Amino acid sequence: MPISPDDLDYVDVAGKVAGGGYKWADHDGSSFPAFVAEHDLGPPPAMVERLSELVGLGAFGYHDAVARLGPAFSGWMTRRHGWTPDPGLVVPTVSVLQGVWAVVEAFTEPGDGVLLTPPIYFPFNQIGPTTGRRTVDWPLVRDSEGWHYDLDHLELLLADDPGIRLLVLCHPHNPTGRVLTNDQLARIVELATEHDLVIASDEIHSDFVYPGATHRPLPLLDGAAERTVVLTSGVKTFAMGGLRTAVASFSDERLLARFNRVPAELLGGVNRLGCEAVIAAWDAGDEWVDALVALFDRHRRHLVDRLADELPKVRVHLPEATFLAWLDLSALGPDGPPGRWLGGRTGVSCKSGPPFGIGGEDHVRLTFGTSTVVLDEMLDRLVDGLRG
Ligand SMILES: Cc1ncc(COP(=O)(O)O)c(C=O)c1O
Repeated sequence: MPISPDDLDYVDVAGKVAGGGYKWADHDGSSFPAFVAEHDLGPPPAMVERLSELVGLGAFGYHDAVARLGPAFSGWMTRRHGWTPDPGLVVPTVSVLQGVWAVVEAFTEPGDGVLLTPPIYFPFNQIGPTTGRRTVDWPLVRDSEGWHYDLDHLELLLADDPGIRLLVLCHPHNPTGRVLTNDQLARIVELATEHDLVIASDEIHSDFVYPGATHRPLPLLDGAAERTVVLTSGVKTFAMGGLRTAVASFSDERLLARFNRVPAELLGGVNRLGCEAVIAAWDAGDEWVDALVALFDRHRRHLVDRLADELPKVRVHLPEATFLAWLDLSALGPDGPPGRWLGGRTGVSCKSGPPFGIGGEDHVRLTFGTSTVVLDEMLDRLVDGLRG
């Protein structure tokens, strides 16, 4: 029998608390966690079976499972996104963030410009302070339809600043859930070629793209392969952040040779359990992910509809991708950091917007990757705490 979204629509809250993960460990019923970009419905059965087998065998020694990581990743990308990366050009990394920092190290020098797209996944704003590079903001702009990329602005930024060497894309975009269209991607690649930029394309949220939008892995664009590194993992899809396994995927041997300036020992090597877990999920997780994406498609609509009906002062646009909603609280005049203000009034713990940079003022990010019951509990709390 095929898996249906309803089969996955349950969170064992007591089990989550007992599991002691970052998201649920402090839950005592007084507040609900929506602050971290992790969903509550994993992991897929194939992953649990494989890990149980290895734990039973005590198979924790040095390993060569990485040899199967590239092929499993390539198979998943082919089936899910119509892109077939060369497994021989897939470099294991401990995390996507490690991969991004390694790309900064390999392809830029201190003082070089690194383009970011705020409001942006907040750790990226640490690239400047931690590496001596200059981050240059290419902010998304908002109109009545939602958040958009302004390609004319990108053209101006690049014309004005020849020191920009790297574009860090978040594709799809955390926190707005925006998906770049094929035409927009083509223009980005054209400008990157003209100004000889490398593009770090963080595609970690690409498995959660809903009907109406399509994810195009960047290397599929003409001219992109020679200047693109795709950084991704199964962490968002399979809720396996604690297993610390990701990939940096190249489509050009010369670009990979430049990346290899970063000593392999600094990348650390991935652990056996993380590697085996994601291989099992990539090999056998299609049906499970189809059901999960259908459930979160339902959730995103439910959330936006309920807020529009019951709390119209909270402004939100239907995300095209991700299990994240980017809520504008400015009409409510939050006092102090918006996450703390909202948590104090509602018991719903969201990530505050200001660390996301320009566009983060008066915003919070809410994770709706949970069950319908938990989502409704959070929405009830928002409505009770903010109405009136
Ligand atoms: C866009 C984006 N990139 C990277 C990460 C983190 O991935 P990792 O834990 O593999 O560094 C996240 C997690 O929230 C994310 O949303």
